Amino acid sequence: MRNINEDTITQAVLASMDGCRDERLRTVMTSLVQHLHAFAREVKLTEDEWFKAIQFLTDVGDITDDKRQEFVLLSDTLGLSMLVTTQNNRKPAVCTEATVLGPFFVEGAPKYENGADLSNGAPGAPCFVRGRVSGVNGEAIAGASVDVWQSDEDGFYDVQKTSDAPGEMVHSARGRLHTQPDGSFRFRSILAEAYPIPHDGPVGRMLDGLGRHPWRPAHLHFWIKAAGYETLITHVFRDGDQYLDSDAVFGVRSSLIVEWVKHEPGIAPDGSSMSTPFYTLDYNFVLNRAGEAE
Ligand code: BEZ
Ligand code: FE
Repeated sequence: MRNINEDTITQAVLASMDGCRDERLRTVMTSLVQHLHAFAREVKLTEDEWFKAIQFLTDVGDITDDKRQEFVLLSDTLGLSMLVTTQNNRKPAVCTEATVLGPFFVEGAPKYENGADLSNGAPGAPCFVRGRVSGVNGEAIAGASVDVWQSDEDGFYDVQKTSDAPGEMVHSARGRLHTQPDGSFRFRSILAEAYPIPHDGPVGRMLDGLGRHPWRPAHLHFWIKAAGYETLITHVFRDGDQYLDSDAVFGVRSSLIVEWVKHEPGIAPDGSSMSTPFYTLDYNFVLNRAGEAE
């Protein structure tokens, strides 16, 4: 393999993978190389641009640690995460749509009984959430685990605020519940507010350069698991939010937009007396049977 030129380089790289014994790896890498080369040819990539791109990816790696995943943020803001989510979660229209996981889910969130207050001191207007988890025929799914997490009124998740010291993580506005025999669950938390994704790093500079903002519309994250059903990772978005049509990570689905109903001070759904305005949110989730993806 000598004297490879502009016209023969792509084929030479593809041929170099002839010995690859992993068929899927070879398929993926063949396509990646073809698309990368086609891209460089199409935009007539300059050496200066290539160096800048390498520096950009280096910066993305440098800022990434166990609390900050800039590569995921890059994938999210380029729409790749949502594309992969969508093409891997095709299901009957009656099922709840999936959307991006995002970087703020954590394993080991506190477990709560139905009706509990998950906010654990996170600032925000009180919000009472009720829902039901069922299958496509309306059958109640009892015992499903329901992970919930959200930002506070300042736009921060607990993991963005707590100290670095191991063992000191205090979770707030997140938790895990289980559905009751009728498939229902309920909890108290705080009102979800719009927030900007972390934008003080290379992805933020990229958004800025592209004339894009970093905001996500207000939402509540859900991760629902039940034996015999497909796992659902999704959000519920707050109707009326100004960023519903320009979500920085392209995650909004009309079927996931719901009204958070505002109530004046009075008796809340859990029977407690509220001296300030509070909100209620009702949303039902429909899971596909396992093994029935379309
Ligand atoms: C989130 O909703 O938590 C999120 C999703 C993608 C990127 C950043 C944040
Ligand atoms: Fe979020």
